[in-house]
Amino acid sequence: MNAIKVNIGHVFGLVTKENVLRMQPEVSAAKHHLLKGDAAGNDFLGWVNLPEEIDSEMLARLKADVARLKAQSSVLVVIGIGGSYLGARMVIEALQSEFAMANRNGKPFIVYAGHTLGEDYYSQLLAFLDGEDYSVAVISKSGTTTEPAVAFRIVKAHLEQKYGKAEAASRIVAITDARKGALHEIAAKAGYPMYVIPDNVGGRFSVLTPVGLLPIAMAGYDIDRLLTGARDMREICMEKESLEENPALLYAAVRNALYRKGVKVEMLVSAPPSLRYLAEWWKQLYGESEGKEHKGLLPHSLSITTDLHSMGQYVQEGERLMMETFIRVKQPAARVPVPLDEENLDGMNYLVNKTLTEINDCATEGTVEAHVSGGVPVVELEVERVDEYTLGQLIYFFEFACGVSGYTLGVNPFDQPGVEAYKKNMFRLLGKPGF
Ligand code: PA5
Repeated sequence: MNAIKVNIGHVFGLVTKENVLRMQPEVSAAKHHLLKGDAAGNDFLGWVNLPEEIDSEMLARLKADVARLKAQSSVLVVIGIGGSYLGARMVIEALQSEFAMANRNGKPFIVYAGHTLGEDYYSQLLAFLDGEDYSVAVISKSGTTTEPAVAFRIVKAHLEQKYGKAEAASRIVAITDARKGALHEIAAKAGYPMYVIPDNVGGRFSVLTPVGLLPIAMAGYDIDRLLTGARDMREICMEKESLEENPALLYAAVRNALYRKGVKVEMLVSAPPSLRYLAEWWKQLYGESEGKEHKGLLPHSLSITTDLHSMGQYVQEGERLMMETFIRVKQPAARVPVPLDEENLDGMNYLVNKTLTEINDCATEGTVEAHVSGGVPVVELEVERVDEYTLGQLIYFFEFACGVSGYTLGVNPFDQPGVEAYKKNMFRLLGKPGF
């Protein structure tokens, strides 16, 4: 059942095994703060039991709404920013074909809005939506965030012009607070089906609520398997105490041990390009949870081998600031071997019949070896394959490790006071009343 293995064999240049093992009491104490809810941020611990406590009636309603929307749409526009879209996008992009847009075969294609204010983006989006039958999932926990609110206005106006107000209303689902916020009010007034983001689940921990589940189900992926993966990982995180048996505690321990030795940056490194949004989601999770009081590892990411040709030089020989966490996927979904070319002008015949995964694995091995010898500590997370089950495991693994790691670092991992600073300035510059 434990599909995630954490290998810390390549960190021992900077820290010793004893340094890591000595973290056990601290990470165990952090874990127990999560379980007992007796530390800062304890009003945002709803995610800890989410996979266990998911409301089956809500799930059934969600699946019925998804079936209804699928029947009338070739496209779903997911409107949200930060935690209100990154979790869904991570799972969808990890599972769908890179060319899903061109090979839709009747499956709804998911597009995103509300995560940017790029004017060209919206003009292109509306032109695309002109030719599609589409529905909208508008997602905002606070219901007051500027980017998704503005995007919803723009897309709703287009939808109402295309289908008329009544049909447009049947094509919109709102996911927001149970009681408050402008989005709640708009949805209640217009009669949109509504789903609730629980009060005690922060945006970046909300992928296993309707925030993530509805778009993922709409894209055709198995949300029950996702939840099963998360549930199984939760069991491990809850029941296992020692660093050897609890991968989330080990990951939290090793990154804190390295941070204390002066590491400032953690790069999440993966080979399948489809995992780029896993890195984006992880960056928000760790950056927003730990980056406070002038503390915390800066989360960054690399895609192998693509970024080795742009960032590889810095990682190998630049400032010694970073650790890397490699996600190693054991089994690819497909195999593409290198074909024979009789002329062999490119000299690649020595690779004939090797699959790209075999080549990528050698590139990854070679990279780990090179970076370790260049003084970069490397942690490896090994997963069997990329599917709904392992993604569910990864989600819970990273969330749990994040809570433990944040408490071990000595911050409240569940607030994000710094996010408000730019908003106040933007509101003043825009002339918002009261600013
Ligand atoms: O993690 C968080 O809480 C934030 O980054 C939010 O996800 C983001 O700001 C979007 O907020 P909301 O869902 O309230 O629109």
